[in-house]
Amino acid sequence: MTEPDSRRDETLLAIAKAETIDALEALRVEALGKKGWVSALLKTLGGMTPDERQTEGPKIQGVRAAIADAIAARKAELETAELNARLASETLDLTLPAPAAPKGSVHPVSQVMDELAEIFADLGFAVATGPEIEDDWHNFTALNMAETHPARAMHDTFYFPDHDAMTVPASSSEAVGEKRRMLLRTHTSPVQIRSMVKQGAPIRIIAPGRVYRSDSDATHTPMFHQVEGLVIDRDIHLGHLKWTLETFLKAFFEREDIVLRLRPSYFPFTEPSVEVDVGWKDEKGRRVLGGDGDAPGHGWMELLGSGMVNARVLEFAGLDPSEWQGFAFGVGVDRLAMLKYGMDDLRAFFDGDGRWLDHYGFSAFDQPTLSSGVGARA
Ligand code: PHE
Repeated sequence: MTEPDSRRDETLLAIAKAETIDALEALRVEALGKKGWVSALLKTLGGMTPDERQTEGPKIQGVRAAIADAIAARKAELETAELNARLASETLDLTLPAPAAPKGSVHPVSQVMDELAEIFADLGFAVATGPEIEDDWHNFTALNMAETHPARAMHDTFYFPDHDAMTVPASSSEAVGEKRRMLLRTHTSPVQIRSMVKQGAPIRIIAPGRVYRSDSDATHTPMFHQVEGLVIDRDIHLGHLKWTLETFLKAFFEREDIVLRLRPSYFPFTEPSVEVDVGWKDEKGRRVLGGDGDAPGHGWMELLGSGMVNARVLEFAGLDPSEWQGFAFGVGVDRLAMLKYGMDDLRAFFDGDGRWLDHYGFSAFDQPTLSSGVGARA
């Protein structure tokens, strides 16, 4: 066998064995490419006598054609195999049932927060927010709880280690260089301070968000939700607070027979302070709402702390108490949700159990609006 013949056979064998288009292309370049060995053979024709060319020409052309044909044939085979493999793997079984509609629901806490935003927006309140990782000046000191104040101890505060304390930066309008301990905010009241410092007066805001206390049982979880309310203006008095809370709770529970019980109380940041319990009886005099029942058929649920903003707090926040007054309140959002939608264990709110959410969650289409009643449809 001549040399070109044996090389041709080697190449044809390699083509037959090629498993990929790339491998095939490499073989093509090696033989038929500009610098390939078949191309080199073709070039030798120019230096031959006419007789030699007569016999050698067809042979070399035959080698070229055999290789080109083999490559084309193998390429077609590989492409067909690839297509078949794709068709086999990308099957679509049209006899399968349609997939279940995507599931998911709005958590009652989110739903209630939306309801509150809707109710208070109608009363002219904007929504404000503050950080959950707070410093002890905003969480306590500026709210009239000095370092030695006993109320601090009552908050079961989660503190960060001392080395995380922050130093008030030179850019601040507050006590530059002062060291402040960092903590997880124990209530939303620091947003009062942040709002007053930032925007001055007048103010009408609610501030919903997460708060943290080291406490856990059926009605207390280490993380829970509050909504703070703050109104600062001229000539604000306790009557404005009472009207606002009544209007809010009637809109929220969607009933006119809401009874509020205002109890004198104490918070360092309000003076006077008022704690608000809510309760009502049904038409037969049975208790419909409220725990801690006192008289038969009557019950009360502690819902809310409130009061007139303490003059000291206004001063801490840079407002002149002879010009501005206001009221503030803090409500437990989770408690509102439990009362309105009938859950009895707060811990289940944060278990992330899909079945609980299936039962108590809301459709994303259930947007609270005042015109259709802020409550979600059952
Ligand atoms: N921050 C108080 C608490 O968490 C509630 C409160 C807010 C009381 C505003 C008065 C005014 O218990």
